[in-house]
Amino acid sequence: MKRENFGSKFGVLAAAAGSAIGLGNIWRFPYIAGKNGGAAFIFVYIIFVIVMGTPLMISELVLGRHTRSNSVGAYKVLRPNSKWKYTGILAVVTSFIILSFYSIIAGWVFTYLQQSFTGKLIKVVPDQLESYFVSLSSNASSALFWNAIVIGLTAFIVISGIKNGIEKYSKVLMPILFFTLVALMIRSLTLDGAKEGLKFLFKSDFSQLTTKSLLEALGHAFYSLSLGMGIIITYGSYINREENLVSLSLQIITADTLMALMSGMVIFPAVFAYGFEPQSGPSLIFITLPAVFQAMPLGAVFETLFFLLVGIASITSTISLLEVSVSFVTEEFKINRKKATALLALGVFILSIPSTLSFGVWSEVQLFGKNIFDFMDFMASYAFLTIGGCLTCIFVGWVWGSQNAFQELTNDGAHPMKGYKIYNFIIKFIAPIAIGLIFLYSTGIIKL
Ligand code: PHE
Repeated sequence: MKRENFGSKFGVLAAAAGSAIGLGNIWRFPYIAGKNGGAAFIFVYIIFVIVMGTPLMISELVLGRHTRSNSVGAYKVLRPNSKWKYTGILAVVTSFIILSFYSIIAGWVFTYLQQSFTGKLIKVVPDQLESYFVSLSSNASSALFWNAIVIGLTAFIVISGIKNGIEKYSKVLMPILFFTLVALMIRSLTLDGAKEGLKFLFKSDFSQLTTKSLLEALGHAFYSLSLGMGIIITYGSYINREENLVSLSLQIITADTLMALMSGMVIFPAVFAYGFEPQSGPSLIFITLPAVFQAMPLGAVFETLFFLLVGIASITSTISLLEVSVSFVTEEFKINRKKATALLALGVFILSIPSTLSFGVWSEVQLFGKNIFDFMDFMASYAFLTIGGCLTCIFVGWVWGSQNAFQELTNDGAHPMKGYKIYNFIIKFIAPIAIGLIFLYSTGIIKL
């Protein structure tokens, strides 16, 4: 079977940036930046994405492109009959679990999109928004219905393959996302009182930069760039030899960071202009923002645009998550793409049921002191992701060897490049240690 490739440079960028830009950029980054010292935190974050994110992104891209394999196959090609394939399997498991709960939140987003489009959401009185959200997320049948829509849409795109599926849709969706974000940003920044929000996001307070916030910045950089779960390896395997992977990595990272900052400039000026408190996590976009839109002239229009934006950001991430297991199953078990996508989509849906129920009838069920949703999130986003990322660095730096990775990067010398020593040093020493620290911190093994 002939392996597909991305058809254009813009297509690769749109798909990879589409994966990176997700809920993490929209609701997590702006909030943690505001809380942890504003511009000071953003400054450190940018240093981290450049110094740590670029070498890691490059490493995953070369692993995929060199082996032309899915995230498990890549290890099998380079170290046949070794245990390294389990690093790839861990990546498949991680992305599968993340998809199972990410799609629940994406489902809420689509519910809100439908409710704002039909004008219902704007009519809910502000006092009722919280109970509106709680009743919506705890209603299992509607949550599962919207979850199924998200998984169905994701499968619909993935089933058509790389060029006619993932690339085709990313190329349309990413520009829409960008222009929607620009429109919303202009609206937000021109509100009276927008300044307070900008102050929250961009004030510069180095005293709030603690070891804890540094680790938070690093951990977020990693998650936001979709590293450590086989996505970039998989996308890398569809990139042709002529592509310059360094400039591609830098473009992905710039797009991801820019969109995170722009989201902050959409959300906080509006929140502060109407006298609300910045919240974290789901309540920010599902409770606070709808109240903000109600106070805004033409609020219903901006509300619809906002949920459209978040909906697109989540779909371009869910397709990358599903593609990791689809490419694994099609290539390792020789099952055709249609069947593999359908089976895996069904599997993800089934796995998402317990997490969905944990917002309602199963809210009391606890695993290690967490409800099911939080437990899944914790295992995948904190434990597995960091272990996988750390093993990837060790594999590229020490086992396959950074010279080989660099050789692939330069396309066997066709694009001569400087910087080998720095790359080698980061991938062998700095990155594994730093990711190891994130693991210890975010799993609570070390407390700060
Ligand atoms: N990078 C995405 C974000 O910022 C999150 C994500 C994680 C997407 C894992 C896909 C896979 O939201």
